[in-house]
Amino acid sequence: MSGHILEIQNLRTDFSIAGGIVRAVRGIDLFVDRGEFLGVVGESGCGKSVTMLSVMRLLSENATVRADRLAFDGRDLLRLDHKKMRRMLGDEIGMIFQDPMTSLDPLYTIGNQIMEPLKIHRKMSGHEARKRAVEMLDLVGIPSPEQRLKQYPHEFSGGMRQRVMIAIAMSCNPKLLIADEPTTALDVTIQAQILELMKDMQEKFSAATLLITHDLGVIASTCSRVVVMYGGLIMESGDVEDIFYRPAHPYTIGLLSSISDAADTGKKKLSPIPGSPPDLMNPPRGCPFTARCDFAMRICAASRPALAETVPGSGHGVACWLRDTRAKLDGTGVTAR
Ligand SMILES: Nc1ncnc2c1ncn2[C@@H]1O[C@H](COP(=O)(O)OP(=O)(O)O)[C@@H](O)[C@H]1O
Ligand SMILES: [Mg+2]
Repeated sequence: MSGHILEIQNLRTDFSIAGGIVRAVRGIDLFVDRGEFLGVVGESGCGKSVTMLSVMRLLSENATVRADRLAFDGRDLLRLDHKKMRRMLGDEIGMIFQDPMTSLDPLYTIGNQIMEPLKIHRKMSGHEARKRAVEMLDLVGIPSPEQRLKQYPHEFSGGMRQRVMIAIAMSCNPKLLIADEPTTALDVTIQAQILELMKDMQEKFSAATLLITHDLGVIASTCSRVVVMYGGLIMESGDVEDIFYRPAHPYTIGLLSSISDAADTGKKKLSPIPGSPPDLMNPPRGCPFTARCDFAMRICAASRPALAETVPGSGHGVACWLRDTRAKLDGTGVTAR
């Protein structure tokens, strides 16, 4: 069986809205290896969540999802019916979202919410599920798990609720955990604890983890490989060292200089990238970063650069005309502004 637990080829997701069509994801190739910790990073609105929700088919009715291939654990997701997909979620694929309060049901106890999927997916008896729930709460660092099982979500702090979400997501021993901005709503100290817990769980359960975040700082402490998204496309991908020490795309370099450092008390002056992301109702023809890029050439606006490896076989991919010698040779490599 291939090393990839998740494979995405040429994913395109559109939304029909009153004013037209939002081209949220515009041709993405991505894979997650078994057991690896992959980070997907990019500013808000660049298509990170839509990419993952497309894979899990959790999008609203106005969405159209197309792809050359979507496969989980070797199975073709494009052919899977809705029922089978639902069964896979929460069982083989665990999910954690930004706001645990919206994912947890306020009307049911925490115990109920951990036990339910175990009864459904793992066919556990009430007694077995309860035992497992206590174990899981203990594992994610919730003190007095027996008592905590009987409590409701509002009786937990934000960080504790996210721990509960992790317990739920991991309880069925998923092959893939998808975490979408899991620490964004938390303060920095709690954020670091939750990331550490996720890393811990990934190792303990050997589950592949896909972490979506707008914050490169979060990536540095957890991920081994990184995909950088912008304007519904992938700008750069590679090992965490490639991205942090040898960034090749001006967008990645811009993100790195605007990074927030948890250990930093705000003394360092952050320099966010000037300008704003493109309007995905009228996406740019060429590289979506052209309008904000200090190095933009005429060809950047005219046509989309392919994602190509910086060094063949390195796994470090960059979609940028600056890396393409043809751009300079054919006379189009003239700085645009
Ligand atoms: N249900 C929807 N209807 C219309 N547009 C949407 C919908 N969901 C997301 N979008 C648009 O798709 C783009 C990508 O969104 P998203 O994937 O949520 O970004 P992020 O990278 O912040 O997770 C944004 O322009 C967003 O406005
Ligand atoms: Mg998002």
